[in-house]
Amino acid sequence: TKDKGMTVDPLRTVAKEMKFLTGNIRKLLGSGHPSLDRVAKYYTQAEGKHIRPLIVLLMSRATHLCPKAATFENPQTSRGIDTSISPIQILADVNPSANPLTAYDKEMPEEGNPDILPSQRRLAEITELIHTASLLHDDVIDHSVSRRGSPSANLQFGNKMAVLAGDFLLGRASVALARLRNAEVVELLSTVIANLVEGEFMQLKNTERDERSPKYSEETLQYYLQKTYLKTASLISKSCRASALLGGADAATVDAAYSYGRNLGLAFQLVDDMLDYTRSGAELGKPAGADLELGLATAPLLFAWKQMPELGALVGRKFEQEGDVQRARELVLQSDGVEQTRALAQEYSEKAMSAIAHFPESEAKDGLMEMAHKTIKRNK
Ligand code: FPP
Ligand code: MG
Ligand code: MG
Repeated sequence: TKDKGMTVDPLRTVAKEMKFLTGNIRKLLGSGHPSLDRVAKYYTQAEGKHIRPLIVLLMSRATHLCPKAATFENPQTSRGIDTSISPIQILADVNPSANPLTAYDKEMPEEGNPDILPSQRRLAEITELIHTASLLHDDVIDHSVSRRGSPSANLQFGNKMAVLAGDFLLGRASVALARLRNAEVVELLSTVIANLVEGEFMQLKNTERDERSPKYSEETLQYYLQKTYLKTASLISKSCRASALLGGADAATVDAAYSYGRNLGLAFQLVDDMLDYTRSGAELGKPAGADLELGLATAPLLFAWKQMPELGALVGRKFEQEGDVQRARELVLQSDGVEQTRALAQEYSEKAMSAIAHFPESEAKDGLMEMAHKTIKRNK
């Protein structure tokens, strides 16, 4: 029924699941302590883009049609130890104050897609929890004052509460993760949490002053890309991998899912770093031009630096001298740094698409293709 060549709305394919996402996340975050409850749920109030859960759900559907691993035993049908996910049980333990027998039952999409397992739906929620935890911590580190069009949690509640709320989210994400009863998936998502910190450390290390006016080298871009993988693409790629694993996909499919996520994640962050130069704070819902202010040299600046060695002195002193930020910004916009960043993002986006090109045709696969396309077209 679908017109070939017409763009699909990736959201429509998993709309039923997405409709329950925020509500389910808020249930996972319930705390008997009212102020913790409030800070923990704070970033779930404004609608985020929910890109990570959207990708996980689409990947779950798209890989459903792919070959299965020989050893796979569907936890929903296997006998013996009960490895199925009982949302009611999760809710009862995680949030004893809620009424476990009604709350989840009513809101579970009965008419949801049967090719998405409850464990994969839960994985989608876990990825958003980990992402939101990283935003709570990130806004403290970056001294950010706004997020998703509202005051940031650190501004609203202070640094201590924002950090603790982030830790709380990671704790609840870990409980939900353990309940999936899949050691490989637990290992993947735990590695993501470590990777987020490693990425942030690589970035911090890069904001140390170096008075010798460093020279641009190929390693400069490699370091940036490695950092970008750790801070952004690790979560997307490993959750894609986990989604395929939970569905019992064979090794080639699991690898393809990972490759899609890795390349899409890199494209996504490159575009993010580009928008920091090309869009206003009002358009982004968070401060624009923030990276230079933080002393960070991201892709647009690195490409400009390659053409304009004089940027080295500014990079070395982390754009701290009066007028540095503005000067660097002008040089970047004069160079084709923004254009080269966009071109590199496009390369990664195309790699993401070719990673899953051999998947059987489906609406979910079209949705993943559209996500890769939209990632480089987005302006917020
Ligand atoms: C946003 O980047 C931040 C991240 C993608 C990850 C940050 C990671 C940490 C703070 C490590 C600790 C986290 C955990 C979960 C243990 P950005 O500042 O470039 O983006 P922004 O413009 O949205 O602020
Ligand atoms: Mg930030
Ligand atoms: Mg940051």
